[in-house]
Amino acid sequence: MPIIDAIGQGGLPCLELTNRFGFARVYLHGAHVTHWTPADGSEMLWMSARSFFAAGKPIRGGIPVCFPWFGGHPSDATQPAHGFARVRAWTVTARADFTDGSTHVTLTLSDDADSRAVWPHAFTAELTLILAATLTVALKVSNTGAAPFVCEEALHSYFSVSDIEQTTVDGCHGQAYIDKAGGGAVDRRDDAEVIRFTAETDRFYPATPGPHVITDAASGRRIRVSKQGAQSSVVWNPWIAKAAKMPDYGDHEWPSMVCVEAANAGSDRLHLAPGASATCATTLEWVR
Ligand code: BG6
Repeated sequence: MPIIDAIGQGGLPCLELTNRFGFARVYLHGAHVTHWTPADGSEMLWMSARSFFAAGKPIRGGIPVCFPWFGGHPSDATQPAHGFARVRAWTVTARADFTDGSTHVTLTLSDDADSRAVWPHAFTAELTLILAATLTVALKVSNTGAAPFVCEEALHSYFSVSDIEQTTVDGCHGQAYIDKAGGGAVDRRDDAEVIRFTAETDRFYPATPGPHVITDAASGRRIRVSKQGAQSSVVWNPWIAKAAKMPDYGDHEWPSMVCVEAANAGSDRLHLAPGASATCATTLEWVR
């Protein structure tokens, strides 16, 4: 039975997918993928040993689903960063094994009284996970109400690396970006061939098609992060001081991860008319 209902950390329900391509685990809490291990490889995603696994708190690592805003709430600092979708329980609405050996699951979140109290819009969000030779995560957002709305979204993937100081990320050369390191918002242009990490890195690249290849020179591993319907890319490592401030992130974990995120945020935010839908996806591939 390749799709197993399981109880994960913190007693939270999850699905475990296994097939000839490998293994993936997705929690219903946040529709949050925490693990992806190709059959003949090692774990690709990074998880913090300090992550919370609790109702109302986001999971640290894996692939958080950010929706309907990215970063802080535009006007209410009491609202969760990166939106409420990652701290809500989603419902499994489809699961199937395909004849090509791939496994597909879909989790769904719709508006309710709690969501409308902070974001007054009718929506359905469907997160589909496809475990094949690659891992694809697709977020389809539909406006099910009578009025248009504007939203932001991100598939905030955390990747495991052996040493961030020997890691590079490509696909951003020549692109304008907003440098958010240190909490600021400075407009810059990337003139380096690849991104290297020597300090806190928090970059928002609008209108950047990708793909991005993460090269982890210390292990020799490369991961290609492709995007479909996601105009923005985000690259993040908190480094030392910011890591120390986060309660759900170990002080010494920063050298072992990098986030490369597929997003529609800021100037790329979505405008959805009544009845309209948009899908933002990322495909992760171990480049061998
Ligand atoms: C990144 C943002 O996407 O997520 C950073 O660009 C942020 O600014 C990081 O610090 C982690 O966010 P959070 O809410 O999961 O701590």
